[in-house]
Amino acid sequence: MAQPGSDFPHTHLLSADQLQRNHLDCIFQRSDEYLEQLRLHGPDGFSRVLNGVVVVLAFIESSTRTRVSFEVAAKRLGAQTLNFQAGASSLSKGESLVDTMFTIESNHPDLIVVRHSAAGTPEFLAGRLQSGIINAGDGRRQHPTQGLLDAFALRNRIGSLQGVNICLIGDIYHSRVARSNFDILRTLGANVAACGPGTLMPDSLEALGVRVFHKLDEALEWADVANVLRIQRERMDVGLLPSLREFQRQFGISGRHMQQHPELLVMHPGPVNRGVELSAGVVEHKRSLVLEQVEAGVAIRMALLALISEARGLV
Ligand code: CP
Repeated sequence: MAQPGSDFPHTHLLSADQLQRNHLDCIFQRSDEYLEQLRLHGPDGFSRVLNGVVVVLAFIESSTRTRVSFEVAAKRLGAQTLNFQAGASSLSKGESLVDTMFTIESNHPDLIVVRHSAAGTPEFLAGRLQSGIINAGDGRRQHPTQGLLDAFALRNRIGSLQGVNICLIGDIYHSRVARSNFDILRTLGANVAACGPGTLMPDSLEALGVRVFHKLDEALEWADVANVLRIQRERMDVGLLPSLREFQRQFGISGRHMQQHPELLVMHPGPVNRGVELSAGVVEHKRSLVLEQVEAGVAIRMALLALISEARGLV
């Protein structure tokens, strides 16, 4: 149950489009508090508000930053975490996902953070399990905590995103990060665009209010911020690109672009294919937010774990 007067009613986080403006404000306000505690006070700065809450981290598709930051976030708040390793589980013996998840739930966890290559897995589980489900990435569909942390990191760098021109660049077609960014950025009043090779752009973008560029130079003339996406070779079963070299030549961000656009900010959700999406030196550039995004991810995930636990009446 949501606490009386709470601006955050959600007992699951399945998709970025369930978050209205007041929900985003609530998440960012709580994340501000946690980020300040992370930066200024270290481990003693946190009250263990999630003491007794058990969080299962079920990453059935691989991850570094999302899994690590959910685990750090949960532990900072005093929750207990259980890492479910798909390769070492009975999934590898042919047990179905739903039977595996019923088995996990019979251990009475409170929250399950799930990543899976199949779009819709979090909704499927939320409809069948009692635990709170948090989507940590489902196929090409949604990665809501990445969309949140991208917006939060950018807002911490420049302030309000109202009217800011933000272009997502690269492999839009396979990107759950792009879909979550579009939802959240539009709710925050930003102008959103996409730029990439025709084979990596979905047809539906303009209908979603997303401006489309096919040439990087035109996109960078328009953009205040370039959020550059990873080429997802693991999701390409046909040759959608002539070569990575050709992609880099047409859509990679280099030092030359940073010089030509002296106000441009660059983001990347990671993991970066260095030398493909971003040239050497751009990741560490003073106008790159790549590491600020990772740091923001811990605060955002702390806020979500706490807010969802409150909405579920766990704390
Ligand atoms: N950005 C992101 O989701 O990274 P990981 O795959 O490392 O979690």
